Amino acid sequence: MSENNQKPGLLISFEGAEGSGKTTQIEMLVPKIEALGRDVVVTREPGGSAIGEEIRHLLIRTNGSEEMFPETELLLFAASRAQLVREVLVPNLKAGKIVLCDRFLDSTTVYQGVARSLAQDPVEQINKFAVGDVTPDLTFILDVPAEVSIKRVKHRATDLPDRIEQENIDFYRIVREGYLWLAKSMPERFHVIDATKSPAKVHQEVWKTVKKLLKAVEEPVQS
Ligand code: TMP
Repeated sequence: MSENNQKPGLLISFEGAEGSGKTTQIEMLVPKIEALGRDVVVTREPGGSAIGEEIRHLLIRTNGSEEMFPETELLLFAASRAQLVREVLVPNLKAGKIVLCDRFLDSTTVYQGVARSLAQDPVEQINKFAVGDVTPDLTFILDVPAEVSIKRVKHRATDLPDRIEQENIDFYRIVREGYLWLAKSMPERFHVIDATKSPAKVHQEVWKTVKKLLKAVEEPVQS
């Protein structure tokens, strides 16, 4: 994606169960990358665009009395993602920016595909349709046991847990196993970090990995 001397854009996604510390890690990473003179864009899923944020509200509101079927959930996440990719990711990656995404397509593979037991084939096809050829260059999985997820969600200072946060411990266990299974299937893209460690320790590992990636992609451009 580099034109003239422009450095290549990069997409880095952060995945993990609720309470795994994705948002904190993204906040800690931004100034480090900016200090290298690179522009950073932070976004999230579901959401990240005006249309996506409306879809987010539908997906995670707590007071909906109607049951949302897994198929509906899958298509709404995909709709939010399709918008984000075209409105935010593609233009910023083309402009050589580093995009940090709080969740991306792997959340759908794990939450809808594994945890909600939807068939893998349609989930993959819908994911592919939503993202086109935009896939992360690097994905961190912040790994925490289900018990830690639940504890951290309960201690959050926000009001009520959202619709998905209200799931029971078995759901969180399946989500965790789903992420670890996914990481094993694509070790070149995924980097799993033990996120029971302190935020500072987790950040050290995140930063080391990002620096290595930046070096790898920037060197061929510089030489
Ligand atoms: P969060 O952004 O606060 O982590 O909350 C988003 C919730 O949506 C979280 O419970 C995970 C869930 N989710 C899915 O089930 N599928 C998806 O594709 C995405 C992006 C999120």
